[in-house]
Amino acid sequence: MARTIKLNSGYEMPTIGLGTWQAAPGEVERAVAEAVDAGYRHFDCAMLYGNEREIGAALRAKMDEGAVRREDLFITSKLWNTFHRPEVVEATCRRSLEALQLDYLDLYLVHWPVAFKEGEEPWPRDAQGRIHTTYIEPASTWRAMERLPALGLARSVGVSNFNSQQLARLCDAAQLPPAVNQVECHPYLTQRALRAACRARGVTVVAYSPLGAPNAVRPATTEAALGAPAVLHDHRIKELAAKYAKSPAQIILRYLVQSGMAAIPKSTNPTRIRENLDIYDFELAPAELQFIDSFNCGVRAYPLLEVQHDVNYPFHIE
Ligand code: A2P
Repeated sequence: MARTIKLNSGYEMPTIGLGTWQAAPGEVERAVAEAVDAGYRHFDCAMLYGNEREIGAALRAKMDEGAVRREDLFITSKLWNTFHRPEVVEATCRRSLEALQLDYLDLYLVHWPVAFKEGEEPWPRDAQGRIHTTYIEPASTWRAMERLPALGLARSVGVSNFNSQQLARLCDAAQLPPAVNQVECHPYLTQRALRAACRARGVTVVAYSPLGAPNAVRPATTEAALGAPAVLHDHRIKELAAKYAKSPAQIILRYLVQSGMAAIPKSTNPTRIRENLDIYDFELAPAELQFIDSFNCGVRAYPLLEVQHDVNYPFHIE
């Protein structure tokens, strides 16, 4: 099975990338170096994560050492919610490029469909203490995103956390369709309707929290209430793992990739970093993909509760 997927922009994206959210600046350099040595070529970053400088330094060191060339890497970053005004999009993209020590990104995403009050405070609050959102039509932010490929700043552009209606509105108004919609996806949140909507528009889905974010602090509405265990401990996943002599994580990642997605598991542990890339030597049967699809129970590790009352809140519908 190919290790890359072709985006609608014509570029190839490796189907497994290293997630870097919640990878602390101190440990992320080591994790990135380890991942390059393990064969990772796709790194998922964002300004919000606060570690792009360290990731950039680690990648630069690996390139200087001759371990990898820029053209073999696929680097993603994301436009944070406080920079949605079209006039600041290019400058914000350049800030991530500078932090990452890169001339261009392979992919630049609108991080959330919700715009926050502009400024350096990533979580601005209003007088009532609520997140201070502001109305900026995503299509106008997208106009500025669309200019980035021609400027040579990003080869492909896309979105994240968009639901099918938001994606349709954006695509209908777009000159350049988004290459990617990056959303939470794993066996307990299989996103079948959104995946179909993306497929119909040629948009590749990238699965974040592909392992169900086992160490996330969960809101009370998720697994405890639903009675579902962490997906990595699901006995049905464990049975498939035993059948194929793979780990539960490898079964889940293989399921996502074989279903036509890319996945960006986060790890800073050398053994798990290697484990998560080692999914290309076995194949799940079509019936097993369908079986795993049936595990869906709508468990969302990251429901973006901060903005659930905003008009652009994405997750009221799939
Ligand atoms: P660690 O960094 O210590 O490996 P997700 O990508 O779904 O958000 O999950 C990330 C979390 O899952 C991290 O806390 C990571 O911890 C853990 N993790 C990553 N890979 C594996 C694996 N192969 N098996 C078990 N846990 C994993």
